[in-house]
Amino acid sequence: MFFAAILLHGLCLANAINFTTVYEWDEFDFIWPSGADSSHGQIKQNFKSSKVYLDYMAAFGERLFLSIETQSGVPATLVWLPTSGASTAPPKLAPFPSWNLHEKDNCDSIQWAKGMETDTDGRLWVLDDGNRKCPGKLWIFNLVNNDTTERVYQFPDTVVSHTFDKRWLHDIVLDKTQDDYLAYITQVSSENIIVYSRKTENSWSVKIPGVRISTLALSTKSEARQLYLGRYGSKELYSVSVSELKKEGGNATGRLIGKWTARPYRMLIDSANVLYAAFNYQSYTSKRNNSTPFHEERFHEVGQLGAGYPFTFALDANGSFWMTERNETDFGIRHKLLKAEVGARSYLYKILLSTDLPLRG
Ligand SMILES: *[C@@H]1O[C@H](CO)[C@@H](O)[C@H](O)[C@H]1NC(C)=O
Ligand SMILES: *[C@@H]1O[C@H](CO)[C@@H](O)[C@H](O)[C@H]1NC(C)=O
Ligand SMILES: *[C@@H]1O[C@H](CO)[C@@H](O)[C@H](O)[C@H]1NC(C)=O
Ligand SMILES: *[C@@H]1O[C@H](CO)[C@@H](O)[C@H](O)[C@H]1NC(C)=O
Ligand SMILES: *[C@@H]1O[C@H](CO)[C@@H](O)[C@H](O)[C@H]1NC(C)=O
Ligand SMILES: *[C@@H]1O[C@H](CO)[C@@H](O)[C@H](O)[C@H]1NC(C)=O
Repeated sequence: MFFAAILLHGLCLANAINFTTVYEWDEFDFIWPSGADSSHGQIKQNFKSSKVYLDYMAAFGERLFLSIETQSGVPATLVWLPTSGASTAPPKLAPFPSWNLHEKDNCDSIQWAKGMETDTDGRLWVLDDGNRKCPGKLWIFNLVNNDTTERVYQFPDTVVSHTFDKRWLHDIVLDKTQDDYLAYITQVSSENIIVYSRKTENSWSVKIPGVRISTLALSTKSEARQLYLGRYGSKELYSVSVSELKKEGGNATGRLIGKWTARPYRMLIDSANVLYAAFNYQSYTSKRNNSTPFHEERFHEVGQLGAGYPFTFALDANGSFWMTERNETDFGIRHKLLKAEVGARSYLYKILLSTDLPLRG
């Protein structure tokens, strides 16, 4: 019995990927405002490192972007980190794009960054859930043009409620089509997918009757593109064909694909059409091959972590899988940034070939 358990465990780990630790933090710190930014005087005094809860991650070039849960003691809800540095000392969090866009209760500032995605043209798309005063928005920044704000889209009340208690923007994925970028967005626990078109600057919602949605991931183009959905409060994985999402006001059909071992809160698909998932209160992440019947494999597993949302992750254009790990104990909260080469990029890119390493798109 004992031997069998060891054997099973060994099998799990044989499939696991070896991550290397890039940085470790006992406490987070920020790069504080200076010079032109110094009007943001008192934020440093109010900062509480223990309040930093990393939420979503995106990668582009040599930077990682992270959203942080908004609560008192957190001075900025959107930050970036370098992927490498001259020293092994963990880097400080840098506000993105600058302190100027992190003014509390100023609706021209970012209030609550949630899901994020980078596109293959160097844009960073950020969902902003706003607050009691400010409505929900989608920000698009241009990372290859000095981090300028390219667009700020405020959702109409009919698509995303302007009443804070009726809204909970969550996650975003991008669909690059022939002549447009569409964003598919979730509002936790609603049965609606919100669709935004960059070309027409318009948004609409499509209902998936019977499937309250928490997290989502978009497949590659190797299959008729599918949006994978984690059902709210459940282990069930559903898919819906994106062709059904392009018509305003319609319904789409969710198909049950399988059942995870736990409730997923975050999902991501790579350019080889492999789906990765992280689960509430579980100290492992899993993956499955979308091209085969549902079969879950452990991807990364550690001992006890004690966190409700222990991991957040992103893929870059070079085939690196980036992941943060949160370890919450009575002695404090420690974070790690981990990295593994998976040989595949984000779903937005073509599959990674060793010969086209520096190429994009
Ligand atoms: C991970 O590292 C272990 C020990 O170095 C090695 O035996 C194993 O093959 C590695 N796994 C992968 C998937 O590279
Ligand atoms: C990815 O590769 C490109 C080209 O080799 C390099 O410039 C870039 O820094 C790499 N990105 C990361 C995150 O390492
Ligand atoms: C980028 O922004 C910085 C700081 O605002 C400014 O000094 C610099 O001139 C800008 N560069 C370009 C190419 O616009
Ligand atoms: C969508 O489904 C709902 C049931 O959940 C139904 O009442 C409604 O008529 C359907 N709408 C369309 C456009 O089919
Ligand atoms: C996924 O499954 C398909 C079909 O069996 C296979 O061709 C493909 O190589 C698998 N992908 C990965 C990344 O294992
Ligand atoms: C989490 O932190 C505790 C206390 O420092 C430590 O004993 C434990 O090994 C850590 N867990 C992991 C998975 O690193």
